[in-house]
Amino acid sequence: MDGVITRLYENVPATQYDRIDDPFMLSFLTDDEKKILATRFLYFKVDVPVTVSLMRHKDQPVIPFWLTEAKFVKTDLVVKNAEGYVYEVWERKYDAGLVELGINGFDKHRPVYFVSVAPQESMDKLNITDVYPSEFTMDTMKVGAFTYHDWSGLLLTDVPEKLVGQVLFTTVRGRAREAHVIGGFRETPFPSSAKPDQIMLTWNDSPKTSINIQWRTNTTIPDGQVRYWIDGSSDTITHLASQLVVQDRMLFNDRYIHRYTAQIKNLISGMKYSYQVGSQENQIWSEVLTFQTEAANTDKFSFVWFGDTHTFPDSGKLVFLADKQNKDAAFYSIAGDMVSTGLYRDDWDKLFGNSGSVFARKPLMPVLGNHDRQDGLGAQLYYDLFSLPENGPEKVDAEASYSFEYGNVMFLMIDATSDVDSHTAWIETKLSNTKATWKFVMFHFPPYNFEEPYLDIQRSWVPLFDKYHVDMVMGGHIHYYMRSRPMFDGKVVDSFKKGTVYAISISIPNRHSSMAAEPYAVKQYDEGYFYQRMAIDGNVMKYTTVDSDGVVKDEFVIRK
Ligand SMILES: [Fe+2]
Ligand SMILES: [Fe+2]
Repeated sequence: MDGVITRLYENVPATQYDRIDDPFMLSFLTDDEKKILATRFLYFKVDVPVTVSLMRHKDQPVIPFWLTEAKFVKTDLVVKNAEGYVYEVWERKYDAGLVELGINGFDKHRPVYFVSVAPQESMDKLNITDVYPSEFTMDTMKVGAFTYHDWSGLLLTDVPEKLVGQVLFTTVRGRAREAHVIGGFRETPFPSSAKPDQIMLTWNDSPKTSINIQWRTNTTIPDGQVRYWIDGSSDTITHLASQLVVQDRMLFNDRYIHRYTAQIKNLISGMKYSYQVGSQENQIWSEVLTFQTEAANTDKFSFVWFGDTHTFPDSGKLVFLADKQNKDAAFYSIAGDMVSTGLYRDDWDKLFGNSGSVFARKPLMPVLGNHDRQDGLGAQLYYDLFSLPENGPEKVDAEASYSFEYGNVMFLMIDATSDVDSHTAWIETKLSNTKATWKFVMFHFPPYNFEEPYLDIQRSWVPLFDKYHVDMVMGGHIHYYMRSRPMFDGKVVDSFKKGTVYAISISIPNRHSSMAAEPYAVKQYDEGYFYQRMAIDGNVMKYTTVDSDGVVKDEFVIRK
């Protein structure tokens, strides 16, 4: 499809993209391309003759072009799932050997087809090998089985007797995007150029002695370099950046960019540095920016965090407001759902475009939300764009969950969109090993909320927050504001010394209808959008929530 899209860009003017449909695609594709799209989406070997049943969502308007050519026949059977989706069952017999199946379609129909396989002779024992793609498990076709890894709660409710017990190939809904062309072209309002932009600071090492600087250019720029100097000095140090080519092939006005990352170490603590990023080769440089390393022995600092930002211009305005009102902030965090479609680079372009140079002067240490990782396709753009600590749990993607310390605080930044239980032992190790005075935990899904309490998180992580006395847990996702009383074991307790405060925030305008009262809540807002400032001074932490008009909407102090 990469090659097909390249040919489309060469042959079809942008004004015609919205006219691309199935007949156009079938006339545009070469015979070789059609053959690949008809056979290489899903393939495997069987060692006995089999019947392959293919469950096709009946609401998908166009039947995959290869299905009847491949001699699949529609049966009278249907399969249904818990969302009421009805799937037609198509069938074909295969001899022992290779089974090859084609794409879901040129549209983006997310309830993608799934298949089940059974030997034609009930006495035969079936072995399936050489499966492509290999990452998805095989299960058993029955009522209660799941089909999509990215929506494991979407269980089958109706399975015809004939199919029960067959080998079920699970998949992800993201596969609908693999040949997506119809209505799929996007344009970024912030295309790259030869001049560096989207400059962003993060850490993946000690904030006292290191800084990571990231930026992008278009692909005409062959190299990336940082030059930096102690503020006020003229001794410039240069540092080569690594280069990554990032592709979003449906972004017709900016398909490829160069993303640069410089991981600078051996800095002096408590120092203000100036820097520029650019190209040695082309001598195109950014404006001069600054960053500050953490002081050697400080237990006084502040930071600002945001709830869901979702790339809206309003969240950008809120970032500017927070920046203006918190000149002393050491860094920023976003509690997930930074963007609305994490698979689209133009969404990330908007996040950077709407927040100006704020994150080029103070690090941004975020966590992933469900919108940043979608349809079972992972969070590749997030990993490409952010350079974060790689000290998370073994079974979780590097950079998705991580921890870092600043001052006398340990931050646990958890990717709650990946497996809960894979984190539990890691959380305990981190909490039990730190000497930090304060322990703050941030993840997207709030364990306590009125709408959809996260019982698995309450069960697996909250006992550890209780045992090691986490001071604050911060999240987003439900799109309202809530700050709880201190809680222990799910119940309100009478002092901060005995429990953990759970906070939910949001950084885009929203009105949550039908809010229910929460007995543990001190403050709830169904409307408005906010940033949170947390200022630590030794054993005292002051928490302030400010709305988009700059008005303080919530505040409290914890003294240890
Ligand atoms: Fe959200
Ligand atoms: Fe969310």
